[in-house]
Amino acid sequence: MLTIALSKGRILDDTLPLLAKAGIVPVENPDKSRKLIIPTCQEGVRLLIVRATDVPTYVENGAADLGVAGKDVLMEYGGQGLYEPLDLKIANCKLMTAGKVGAEAPRGRLRVATKFVNVAKRYYAEQGRQVDIIKLYGSMELAPLVGLADKIIDVVDTGNTLRANGLEPQELIATISSRLIVNKASMKMQHARIQTLIDTLRAAVESRH
Ligand code: ADP
Ligand code: PRP
Ligand code: MG
Repeated sequence: MLTIALSKGRILDDTLPLLAKAGIVPVENPDKSRKLIIPTCQEGVRLLIVRATDVPTYVENGAADLGVAGKDVLMEYGGQGLYEPLDLKIANCKLMTAGKVGAEAPRGRLRVATKFVNVAKRYYAEQGRQVDIIKLYGSMELAPLVGLADKIIDVVDTGNTLRANGLEPQELIATISSRLIVNKASMKMQHARIQTLIDTLRAAVESRH
């Protein structure tokens, strides 16, 4: 059995066409189904539907053999426990700092609100800057508007969300796309099968560019 962990939304929407080129098609629409384990038309291949931030956890621990996760999620998750053999070039965005348009630097320590706490700590530590990190789980754009933080770190695509809230993108931390990730033991135990899948997906990615 090959088990592939995916999250609903843009990763699922953009990964299904790539999997289809490898002959892997879910037997029911994962966006509509309430099921979390979805068989595919290929016997011995199934999908797990998990939260985007949980994909690395399922794959590192071997509950899934493969998964698709944003580079932002992988940077935050950290560790050396996963192979990352293929950039799928989907869900493209940028991880950035942002703040209120025209805001002055605060007098005291900079307060940064984000769900990417580990990324934030690393980013400011590399610059030798002392900051207070405030952990949030979503709607980060709100924090500077109500005085919870001076800046946020979040993913930015069109910039519409920032603009709609009077914020502007500031420093680029990383350019982001989603990656195929593979459990290390699975890569050994099911090498031929997984390598074939990686090669097929790579060809599917390249044929789109
Ligand atoms: P979540 O529920 O965790 O927000 P998403 O489906 O929105 O999950 O995001 C999954 C991945 O897609 C993120 O880890 C990131 O890499 C990327 N992403 C997030 N927001 C955007 C966006 N607005 N445009 C493009 N890619 C995005
Ligand atoms: C993401 C992200 C930003 C927005 C950026 O939210 O958290 O809020 O996209 O995209 P933009 O620059 O094109 O506006 P998402 O749409 O994933 O909603 P979420 O809050 O449910 O994660
Ligand atoms: Mg999102």
